Amino acid sequence: MSELHFSPGLDGVVAGETDIACVDQGVLLYRGYAIEDLAENATFEEAAHLLLYGELPDAAALTAFKQRLDGYRPLAPEVVDALRLIPKAVPMMDVLRTAVSMTGHFDPVSDTADLRERSVWLTAQIASIIAARYRLLNGQEPLNAKPGLSHAAQLLYQANGQEPDELHARLLDLTLVLYAEHEFNASTFTARVICSTLSDLVSAVVGAIGALKGPLHGGANEAAMEMLTQFKTAAEASAWIKDALAHKRKVMGFGHRVYKHGDHRARILERELRKLAASLGAHEWMAIYDAIKEPMVNDKKIYPNLDYPCGLTYYLLGLPLDLYTPLFVAARVTGWCAHFMEQAANNRIYRPLSRYTGPPARPVPARAK
Ligand code: CMC
Repeated sequence: MSELHFSPGLDGVVAGETDIACVDQGVLLYRGYAIEDLAENATFEEAAHLLLYGELPDAAALTAFKQRLDGYRPLAPEVVDALRLIPKAVPMMDVLRTAVSMTGHFDPVSDTADLRERSVWLTAQIASIIAARYRLLNGQEPLNAKPGLSHAAQLLYQANGQEPDELHARLLDLTLVLYAEHEFNASTFTARVICSTLSDLVSAVVGAIGALKGPLHGGANEAAMEMLTQFKTAAEASAWIKDALAHKRKVMGFGHRVYKHGDHRARILERELRKLAASLGAHEWMAIYDAIKEPMVNDKKIYPNLDYPCGLTYYLLGLPLDLYTPLFVAARVTGWCAHFMEQAANNRIYRPLSRYTGPPARPVPARAK
């Protein structure tokens, strides 16, 4: 057994084939389209259609897709009641995990074998769950959706009770496009492993939410912003990062298993973040952001991943910290579902080996009677 190759964290291991996304020479492609191109020219709904159906929608398909999303937005009253029962202090990611599992019992897609339809339903439900919980926490009742808004605008409308301005809706939409898919990351792999046992789509999405929550994965957008909120000035941030690097501490929002020379998505979002900060006069925030980034990039050659600019973007948009990783879920659910369908269509159960490091074979000691 010991002669078998072992790669901690499956680093460098090809664990499956996919035609959904790839990172080609540092550039992320969704079904062949570069993320930069999609970020500029596609909305989240178009990217979601691309992931779930294999192609970008034409105008008629897009309208139909948005109508189906709107039709699936209402939550079952039992799900809203369950949201009320969860203690207020429970983190939103834990609430989301429970609520997605709960809503699975009220799936209106009559033919549950229609995985694509269930994926559209789950995408709509997840946004509504996040908005409903947010309102309940603020002592307000969940709001019905306003058909016709974009997915991003809808989520903000259902959370805040008023339609967002164009900038808020556009920037949230951009982050959803950037977050929607990323081939065999930890949460997607989790979803595929669950699928590979012939389990169901809701179980896979619930498992994936659990995997995404950790700060080494999706939880990094919240963790990165938590780090930045410690500082009042760039000088404080500079002193902190010097000390963190001297003590070899992990800095959240930096580094990536796949991108060793920088995450393309982070560069795309950072451009928009700089414009947003300039328009708000949030110069000190950008100075703090750069004070952490510069030594990471220049001295350590460890680059920001998407979660670093995303944390500050959401913060400057006025979104509460506890929503950041759930918003990642609101987007990535489309990638998870696409991978679930792909795995189901050509399945072999995932069952790797382990290298045993315990005691050698030994007899159970005789007990004194
Ligand atoms: N801060 C400080 N040092 C780092 C960081 C970081 N963020 N990331 C990597 N390193 C160091 C690491 O300590 C190691 O150094 P050494 O060789 O001296 O032990 C070296 O760089 C290689 O890192 P690694 O941990 O072996 O890399 P990995 O591929 O196993 O892990 C990672 C990738 C993303 C988990 C890791 O970079 C990390 O923990 N980053 C912080 C958390 C984070 O931002 N996660 C978001 C990931 S991207 C989007 C998403 O999934 O949400």
